[in-house]
Amino acid sequence: MAHYRHAGSIPPKRHTQHRSPDGALYREELMGEEGFSSDSSLLYHRGVPSAIVDARTWELPDQSTTPNQPLLARHLKLHDLFASGDGVDVVTGRRLLLANADVRISYVVASETSPLYRNATGDECVFVEAGTGTLETVFGHLPFGPGDYLVVPRATTHRWVPDGPVRAYCIEANSHIAPPRRYLSRYGQLLEHAPYCERDLRGPTGPEVRDETDVEVFIKHRGSGPGGLAGTVHVVPQHPFDVVGWDGCLYPYAFNVADFEPITGRVHQPPPVHQVFEGSNFVICNFVPRKVDYHPLAVPVPYYHSNVDSDEVMFYVDGDYEARKGSGIGKGSVSLHPGGHSHGPQPSSIEASLGAESFDELAVMVDTFRPLELGEAGTSCDDGAYAWSWNR
Ligand SMILES: [Fe+2]
Repeated sequence: MAHYRHAGSIPPKRHTQHRSPDGALYREELMGEEGFSSDSSLLYHRGVPSAIVDARTWELPDQSTTPNQPLLARHLKLHDLFASGDGVDVVTGRRLLLANADVRISYVVASETSPLYRNATGDECVFVEAGTGTLETVFGHLPFGPGDYLVVPRATTHRWVPDGPVRAYCIEANSHIAPPRRYLSRYGQLLEHAPYCERDLRGPTGPEVRDETDVEVFIKHRGSGPGGLAGTVHVVPQHPFDVVGWDGCLYPYAFNVADFEPITGRVHQPPPVHQVFEGSNFVICNFVPRKVDYHPLAVPVPYYHSNVDSDEVMFYVDGDYEARKGSGIGKGSVSLHPGGHSHGPQPSSIEASLGAESFDELAVMVDTFRPLELGEAGTSCDDGAYAWSWNR
């Protein structure tokens, strides 16, 4: 994210002495992507960021997957997965819906504060379906609420502090997640035709220093377990939130889906106009309340389409989803439309949509370029009937 920010106390010149009022040197840490060749930030710690006093294995939540065979469209009912958020946190309680070698999609309802957490496999983009709270990070705090995307760069130490039950849709990349490249200038500024701009991105409030000692940090990293993952808990001698200042272009940020300005037209606009972020081999799109196609003979719901190169995962967050009427899809549903099979509106919804002037729908879509498999949660909340709904 090539948008410079700074917070707290930093020296006027990088890589020079920076001392506390009592004369102690702060420890400078560069957190950077692509081996010192891409975006980075410099953080100034009171302690030693490399110091640990103990380590043990963290048994990750079930990351095993089952192939989507026979090839079927699926309807996953996420609201069936958790009775409540009691005793559950956003990090250790998330349950795997769908995954491939590029991205994992999980869901959780959580009321508890999570442990400190660092995902060393890639960036995370967590969409908050409901609830409020604070994402506390080594860069500072990000208050969050419904409709927020929280983009957390790989290896950022953070924890989730819900105010009450939070419903979170967690998109974990094995790469970085960023605004679509076609919306960026050659130097990284969001362009005029982009559906959002830098003013819509909220950065951390500023570093917050904690004095606790012997603190656990849960690390998800590459390994030999299911999904090529493993987990480790490091015990560090002092709280990782010991940063007095930082600056740079790499940090967690929030973007609310209500700040996405929809791109509309006289006839149906293709899904890329709804794109909000991208990772390696996948894209994230959102369908927001909007005026629909205004050609006098327009058909507002989508045409049938065969995405020969992708699997399409739609999370229905709010409103009425016009194209899915009669299919059982509602709030809290996820549909999986796999590559190799054409899909489109439920037949009765086409005629019903004619003359519509606006759609009141909110959905988050992930399109992947490699096939997705079902995680344990995906299998357990599959309605088993959706694939046959176009033939009714
Ligand atoms: Fe589609």
